[in-house]
Amino acid sequence: MTIRFKFSDSFNLIKNIRTTGTITPSSKVLIEQLLGPIDFALARCIVELGPGNGCVTHALLKRIHPDCVLVCLELNNEFATQLNTHRDPRLRVYNACASSIREILDELDIAKVDHVVSSLPLSLIDDNVVGNILASVDSNLREGGRFLQYQYSLANYSDMKPFFRDVKLRFTLRNMPPAFVYECIK
Ligand SMILES: C[S@@+](CC[C@H](N)C(=O)[O-])C[C@H]1O[C@@H](n2cnc3c(N)ncnc32)[C@H](O)[C@@H]1O
Repeated sequence: MTIRFKFSDSFNLIKNIRTTGTITPSSKVLIEQLLGPIDFALARCIVELGPGNGCVTHALLKRIHPDCVLVCLELNNEFATQLNTHRDPRLRVYNACASSIREILDELDIAKVDHVVSSLPLSLIDDNVVGNILASVDSNLREGGRFLQYQYSLANYSDMKPFFRDVKLRFTLRNMPPAFVYECIK
């Protein structure tokens, strides 16, 4: 499967800037940092929140085990439809809000997930919804699982702390704009 960057992706990001929070897809360097903590040999279920044009999805599909399921929750109908055209049997795409993780895992008969990878623009999302999303990530992650999230500011750093045993912070200049990467350990 190949997910290529197209100018229409940037157009779609800009058109929906209030829910995407960016004008360009994440760089390879940022994606490497985001996915760095995942042990792909062991993971059998990964949830991706806010896949957008699928640049992180593509990197995940290149790395995950043949028996691993990748469940994507994307609010934007056009991005979800575009991602759904990729016929990888490990990929499940839902046009849904990130706060509905549990309902979707119930549909798939999955009790807990190994990791959650998120590109959600948390600083643009209502505080109550952010609280619901973080609580849902926390309750659906297995012990020792990671919540991996990038952001362009430290605005939501303190929101993570109450939910996780440890929150590690990294930073990369090699993205447009530069980004912080949170590794939250359950
Ligand atoms: C910054 S874009 C990320 C695109 C891509 N993953 C990347 O890293 O370049 C954020 C994505 O989150 C989606 N999004 C925003 N709020 C959401 C929510 N509550 N639930 C699910 N997806 C959401 C947006 O539609 C957008 O596609």
